[in-house]
Amino acid sequence: YSIYQTMQNPDPNRLPIAYEEWEKKAREKLKDGPFYYVAGGAGGERTMDTNVSDFNQWKIMPRMLNNVDDRDLSVELFGQTYPSPAMLAPVGVQSIIHEEGEIGTAKACAELGVPYTTSSASTIPMEKIAEVMGDAPRWFQLYWSRDPEITASFLKRAEASGYSAIVVTLDTPMMAWREIDLKNVYLPFLIGEGLGNYFTDPAFLSKLDKTPQEDPQTAIMHWTQIFGNTGLTWDDIAFLKEHTHLPIILKGILHPDDASLALKHGVDGIIVSNHGGRQVDGAISAIEALPMITEVVGDQIPVMMDSGIRRGSDIIKAMALGAKAVLVGRPAMYGLAVAGQRGVYEVMRNMLADLDITLGLIGKSSVRELDSSVLKKVTHYQ
Ligand code: FNR
Repeated sequence: YSIYQTMQNPDPNRLPIAYEEWEKKAREKLKDGPFYYVAGGAGGERTMDTNVSDFNQWKIMPRMLNNVDDRDLSVELFGQTYPSPAMLAPVGVQSIIHEEGEIGTAKACAELGVPYTTSSASTIPMEKIAEVMGDAPRWFQLYWSRDPEITASFLKRAEASGYSAIVVTLDTPMMAWREIDLKNVYLPFLIGEGLGNYFTDPAFLSKLDKTPQEDPQTAIMHWTQIFGNTGLTWDDIAFLKEHTHLPIILKGILHPDDASLALKHGVDGIIVSNHGGRQVDGAISAIEALPMITEVVGDQIPVMMDSGIRRGSDIIKAMALGAKAVLVGRPAMYGLAVAGQRGVYEVMRNMLADLDITLGLIGKSSVRELDSSVLKKVTHYQ
């Protein structure tokens, strides 16, 4: 209600409320290259579109007279309690979005108690982000390099700087076919953005004759050779387990058979995701895949999801379908584009306020009480 109360004294620099409005403002602020790098998807962007529209397959059936005076949004994951079930998805190259980059986003998350996930492709090295976050919760996202020494080194650095889980992104062993970026001739990595973790990594630097500062071109070339690894198989999970004691969460699972394999290989969590529709055009939407995955996994390990979360009711639907938490990508990035740290803070705070209100309005006191009994799947939807 503090949000409604502040409406009495409108701030002339008031920030947007609706997702669409944030996106529009971000479009006004950013040049074509960076804006479409964030907003665009793979191929004809059909995955990206259905990520959002497929939420409409499920309708919420609110319950009445249930005393919802006290409501609780907290969740428990890997033995820790997090105050928010919505966390920041790993997003690389945030310096192309706003000068504050990852520091602004991470600080906003720390203020709110929203867990932040540092991307391998962060502009700012993971240790610097850890420093500004203090004790606030954070995870590290791994792009699994072709060079095992870099992978091992990233895991070691993440442990040393207080990250509490490793998110291993499996859906990006290479850059996808992104027509809008090809049209704009824009790939931030080729201008050296997003390589902060690599350019400070002892294993990476040991392979170069000159430092990235002395010879950026060669450093970037080397990065393109080792960035992704198309040769990985399920047996390689053992390598990760040998090199870290942190929980290992696989991001990018969309097929129930892969969920079974994840269980078989002893990982600690799964994020159902299609990378925001940025990898495979025409892929199943994350919200459609989610119940198939939670059916296989049951309560054995936590399943989370991202790709298409825009509002509080989306979080409710995902959690009712078995997600223990969700990750938010583009909404937070439009916040960053419009107003840096303050923008991310506003977007995430509003999303949590919307969630809290909607939770109460459907007769639930805790996100942990959500299950499929609050949903009805419909066949005709828009
Ligand atoms: C991403 N995403 C991503 N994922 C990841 O594992 N490592 C990364 O470095 C990035 N980088 C990245 C950059 C940008 C600009 C975007 C928009 C996304 C994917 C991200 O973690 C998440 O899966 C999606 O953003 C979720 O979809 P929505 O909610 O943004 O539509």
